Amino acid sequence: MKKVLVINYSQSGQLHEIINNFLLPFDSSQIERVYIKPVKPFKFPWTSDVFYNTMPECVVEEAVDLEPVSYGSEKYDLIVIGYQPWFLSPSLPVTSLLQDPDFQEKLKGTPVVTIIGGRNMWLNSQESLKAYIQKAGGILVGNIPLMDREPNLISVLTIFHWMLTGKKERKWNLLPLPGVSQNDIESADRFGSIVKEALEKGEFAGLQKKILSLGLIEIPTDIWFIEMKGKKIFRIWAGLIKKKGTTPEKRKFFVTLFKYYLLIALFVASPIILTFYFILIAPFSKRKIQKEKDYFYGVELR
Ligand SMILES: Cc1cc2nc3c(=O)[nH]c(=O)nc-3n(C[C@H](O)[C@H](O)[C@H](O)COP(=O)(O)O)c2cc1C
Repeated sequence: MKKVLVINYSQSGQLHEIINNFLLPFDSSQIERVYIKPVKPFKFPWTSDVFYNTMPECVVEEAVDLEPVSYGSEKYDLIVIGYQPWFLSPSLPVTSLLQDPDFQEKLKGTPVVTIIGGRNMWLNSQESLKAYIQKAGGILVGNIPLMDREPNLISVLTIFHWMLTGKKERKWNLLPLPGVSQNDIESADRFGSIVKEALEKGEFAGLQKKILSLGLIEIPTDIWFIEMKGKKIFRIWAGLIKKKGTTPEKRKFFVTLFKYYLLIALFVASPIILTFYFILIAPFSKRKIQKEKDYFYGVELR
């Protein structure tokens, strides 16, 4: 029987639930499930200070210590990595896993499927995953991003409520529920069936096409646009905070500046810039935008 390693981290349990559903079509005896545990856990719910203070290390991908993992097999027929983006980068526990030599050894020569449970911005973090997997000699054959489908600013409000209270509930009893919708979480088994079929046949070529053919994965143009600018700006802030934040007081000062920058960029600047973009540029760049999106829908690294 083919052996599958499924490894992920989740704070709220959302990604565990997505993966549980994804795995329904599989024979449970072929699955080795591993949960990533940082030695110093990231507290959930977050405080606002800790939340923003985590950005620089996420963006520069600075590993944290993880509890050691003892793998049940030398080699797997498929590795499924579940992760969540943090600040347009892989979450720190997953960054740390990807930098771990033992895990890199498991990746070597092995087909890999990534499952992402995020808010709505996964393009940059997936580029990092692609690079880590390629560097370790793994073969990325599928990517299944599950996101919040609400408009960007609504999902910012709802996810903050969730992350800072720990409750996946309607903010002010008015806004939609945060995170990936229950419907999407429960539909993850549809992806599972496709991946299982590829695994049984030992044929992963064309898997990503089949995943996309379900029509459940979509990259909205505004999200693509924000992500392409956002990561470059985050890198500048991360560098600045790490360079200038040499004492706790100085670090706090620069992180607070970043926090206000981010809120203004999200709620004031981005709606204005996007309005201009959609009126003046997007109508004339349809082919370029589609080409870019097609790249991100795929599993290749450019
Ligand atoms: C510090 C932090 C930063 C985040 N940044 C992003 C992001 O850049 N893009 C995104 O789509 N979601 C982002 N999210 C949402 C997470 O990807 C994820 O959906 C959420 O934390 C729930 O995941 P869980 O299964 O670990 O509970 C962020 C969450 C946290 C806590």
